[in-house]
Amino acid sequence: MFEYINIKLAKTKGSKKLRKLIRKLKNFFGEKDPGALDFKFSTKPSRLFIVQSFINKKKFNSYLEIGTFDNELFDHIKCKNKVGVDPFSGGTHRMTSDEFFLQNRDKFDCIFIDGLHHYDQVKRDINNSLKFINDQGIVLVHDCLPENIEAQSVPRTITNWNGDVWKAFAEIRANPNLDSYTCLADHGIGVIFKSSNKKPFNFKIKNFKKLKFLDYYKNHYEMMNIIEYEDLIKII
Ligand SMILES: C[S@@+](CC[C@H](N)C(=O)[O-])C[C@H]1O[C@@H](n2cnc3c(N)ncnc32)[C@H](O)[C@@H]1O
Repeated sequence: MFEYINIKLAKTKGSKKLRKLIRKLKNFFGEKDPGALDFKFSTKPSRLFIVQSFINKKKFNSYLEIGTFDNELFDHIKCKNKVGVDPFSGGTHRMTSDEFFLQNRDKFDCIFIDGLHHYDQVKRDINNSLKFINDQGIVLVHDCLPENIEAQSVPRTITNWNGDVWKAFAEIRANPNLDSYTCLADHGIGVIFKSSNKKPFNFKIKNFKKLKFLDYYKNHYEMMNIIEYEDLIKII
């Protein structure tokens, strides 16, 4: 019931007052806030630097970005074939990621997922990307490391928001057939390779959508397999 009211309120073209009210309701009825994390992202490389370095090192020829917004990343990526999908702005295809994957026949070397930041959508985007990624390719997932409970709470109530992308990536961390890491940079960049998982995390839960922020808060290093860029680039 609370979630229903929450969604209805969030859809009411959120004034600051409404967002504040939602936050208060959540604080009262929802999960208790365990505190904030500080990943010091301002001292780490940008997503542009990281994605471009993977493309250069692996000599990738094709790049797909899901969710392009104002092309802040898309326009600056240098790669032979670039495709960008967004229902509202930027990129090359004006449609949702689901619509894109339904009609797509191409394979890609690198896919950057940064569309709708809701668990169910991110999970679909990851699964679809894995169908269209070349065997030696890399699937990247933006916004895997929220720094506080509000930043990951759905529906969105704050501007700097990561959504519950981390839950979809946590599910990948449990998959024995996919090797997965989270680069400690730019809100957390999840990295997925089509090879066996070198360090799977043992979750005690089957429905990953039900994971609590507290689980992540306590276990984020092992759960997300956090790695510095300098170490990640060595294994790419
Ligand atoms: C965080 S922005 C992307 C930022 C961009 N990737 C960058 O690095 O600068 C998220 C974008 O996802 C788009 N989006 C929302 N729902 C989507 C969907 N179902 N499929 C694809 N894109 C979606 C939004 O329109 C928005 O432009």
